[in-house]
Amino acid sequence: MSDEIFKHVVSHAKEYGFVFPSSEIYDGLGAVYDYGQNGVELKNNLRQYWWKAMVQMHENIVGIDAAIFMHPKTWKASGHIDGFSDPMIDNKDSKKRYRADNLLEDKIARYEKDGKTNKAQELQNELDAALLENDLAKLKSLIEQHEIACPISGTRNWTDVRQFNLMFSTEMGAMAEDADKIYLRPETAQGIFVNFLNVQKTGRMKIPFGIAQTGKAFRNEIIARQFIMRMREFEQMEMQFFVRPGTQQQWYEYWKENRLNWHKKLGLGESNYRYHDHVKLAHYADAAVDIEFNFPFGFKELEGIHSRTDFDLRSHQELSGKKMQYFDAELDENGKAYGNYIPYVIETSVGLDRLFLSVLCASYKEEEVGEDDKKDTRVVLTLPPVLAPYKVAIFPLTKKDGLPEIARKIIDDLKLDYNCFYEEKDAIGKRYRRQDALGTPFCITVDHESLENQTVTIRYRDTMLQERIPITRIREILAAEINWHKLLA
Ligand code: GAP
Repeated sequence: MSDEIFKHVVSHAKEYGFVFPSSEIYDGLGAVYDYGQNGVELKNNLRQYWWKAMVQMHENIVGIDAAIFMHPKTWKASGHIDGFSDPMIDNKDSKKRYRADNLLEDKIARYEKDGKTNKAQELQNELDAALLENDLAKLKSLIEQHEIACPISGTRNWTDVRQFNLMFSTEMGAMAEDADKIYLRPETAQGIFVNFLNVQKTGRMKIPFGIAQTGKAFRNEIIARQFIMRMREFEQMEMQFFVRPGTQQQWYEYWKENRLNWHKKLGLGESNYRYHDHVKLAHYADAAVDIEFNFPFGFKELEGIHSRTDFDLRSHQELSGKKMQYFDAELDENGKAYGNYIPYVIETSVGLDRLFLSVLCASYKEEEVGEDDKKDTRVVLTLPPVLAPYKVAIFPLTKKDGLPEIARKIIDDLKLDYNCFYEEKDAIGKRYRRQDALGTPFCITVDHESLENQTVTIRYRDTMLQERIPITRIREILAAEINWHKLLA
């Protein structure tokens, strides 16, 4: 998919009520987006897919919904106050600020595009080494060496590279003087860590077990770009899996494979996914891998799987003074109980908005249809049926002769189980096209023959084939295609 098509995807998302720029009447707010009437349905369905796969399908994983605001000490313990920063560089002429590593990554992509693979690889190695050593001076010298110019001013007049913390802060309390500085959470994971014992004890959970959560996270991303790829307010779906120390490698491998398979089941094309092992590990990790997706602008991180050791629970134990230990009564090979320990953690963390973008980009198709002088382009979202905002659209051919009544009756029979769309305006062809653009897998047309023999025409989104069926068969046809089994079985 080209850059040009990506622009079409972005405008399609707006035109068809999937995603709008936030506060658009005030010219928008950088890297903040609102989901419209169709976007929210797709997003809810994706969240449900994740929740079912993680919580419903795993006996030993339960969910929580922790608050966004947390005690400020949380972020001290987690290391975010001291270490959650990006290496930034400013262009002195345009006054624009960039992430130094992103500038270099763009250069690598350009080398690759121009067939300079050796140069790309060499720069990638140097970038990895600089990030690994947190060598800010080296990052600047790479930018200079590779003659990277500011995309706005076109000059190479750069400041030094500095670290900027990405957390948003605000105050809690009515009086400014009494106010305590608190943070909008930059990840949902910490809400799980601080509730580890609450859940373990009240749920009588036995290791290994997981706690899952979906919710908003906030980061003051300096470089916000590529639509909903990098946002300042976004949603994460995270799961912390608590394991016995020493077994983390085995569980890391398990979740790596499990999560990749989950993505692949969406049917967006297996070759669109790959692993990318981290060279530079976050402060809490002893192993980490990204699942990358082939977005129109290249392979980028979609989900992270991190072996977080006992870092978080241990830090919270130290700072809060509360024991974060688990008593393991099971016996080891010598017949001795494992006893008390701080569990190790494998984390899976996927951005819901990025997942949404991957599904939107891979489902968006512009197809040539018709023949000769009737050639036309139809835009269709080939979404997995169970994820589509509307499952079925019902059209009376005309607004009279009792056809709307039959159509309404069909909707009444279906709407408890399926999100239905009703429309009686415009030619049928136009109505079909509008549903294609929303990804609706089935359209049903009620016409005069329906009055005589209780049949309707069903039209399939992907093949555009139409079939005459008795009204009594609608449910059976829908049920065969719209169910979670295809994704979760
Ligand atoms: N708890 C671990 C954690 O937060 P991360 O790699 O920083 O790890 C996990 O984030 C996932 O959250 C990413 O793989 C990505 O899908 C999503 N994500 C992170 N920052 C984002 C942003 N600014 N906008 C949209 N999604 C983001």
